[in-house]
Amino acid sequence: MINDEIVDMDKVHPALLDRGLYFGDGVYEVLRSYNGKIFALDEHLKRFLNSLAGIEINGIDISRVRQNVLMAFDSAKIKNAKIYFHITRGSGPRDHIGKDLKPNFFLTISEIGDYSKSKTDGVAVSTYPDLRWKKCWIKSLNLLPNVLAKMDAAKKGCDESILVDESGLITEGSSSAFFAIIDRAIHTAPTTANILSSITRKFTVIAAQNLGIRIVEKSLTANQAAGADELFLGVTTKDIIPVVKFDGQTISNSKPGQITKKLIAEFSKFTG
Ligand code: PDD
Repeated sequence: MINDEIVDMDKVHPALLDRGLYFGDGVYEVLRSYNGKIFALDEHLKRFLNSLAGIEINGIDISRVRQNVLMAFDSAKIKNAKIYFHITRGSGPRDHIGKDLKPNFFLTISEIGDYSKSKTDGVAVSTYPDLRWKKCWIKSLNLLPNVLAKMDAAKKGCDESILVDESGLITEGSSSAFFAIIDRAIHTAPTTANILSSITRKFTVIAAQNLGIRIVEKSLTANQAAGADELFLGVTTKDIIPVVKFDGQTISNSKPGQITKKLIAEFSKFTG
């Protein structure tokens, strides 16, 4: 039955029998273009391969994935595009161990949203328990804890939810990397913490090095973050976004911080 309609099993489209739907059994990537040029494609493909290996989807020809991305981007004719793609283990009857599965590839391209206001005004964030599994370096389709966290933030009038693990340490945002500036140094969780290896984080580190800003790879508590001089988020679709409110507490006088602004300017040299 699909919604209210009885359908013969052999008429059901294989996409509805995708293991991505039943089990979240797949991995994804999100990348973007700036003014007609795709940003950090190699980095995203490398992480995608790691994610595929992490869930034992083997035999994917990554050069084919690259070709598909380029071909779709070319045909979409969107200059500032958000490119989403995933591979699932395949379609078949619901069975934890499937048989004769052939991975499915799915890709969408859309215009990137206008986030300039969040860059100039900064955003508010709130904390939420990190309910995720122990392999968050895998960009898995299982995003229910992230969705619940984001819904909680939205209810509180916030743009992002900052996840706090069982030992009281911040891991990352529900869909972003998290950074704090304390005593002129950038603090962010090490990639050995249970986080995604964010591509924006990687370029933020390079931007910081170019500017001579020290990086401290250390997880912070929510209290430490609330007392930071500046806070910001990093995510492919928006690069660096200043945070001006953390759990209701004002950060950097409710205005994007000076170091954050310098990082945004330095980051734009990579993408411009
Ligand atoms: N999310 N951490 C999590 C949990 C994420 O989902 C993301 C990105 C990031 C930032 O990674 P990157 O800098 O490589 O975009 C960190 C994507 C955009 C999403 O799920 O839509």
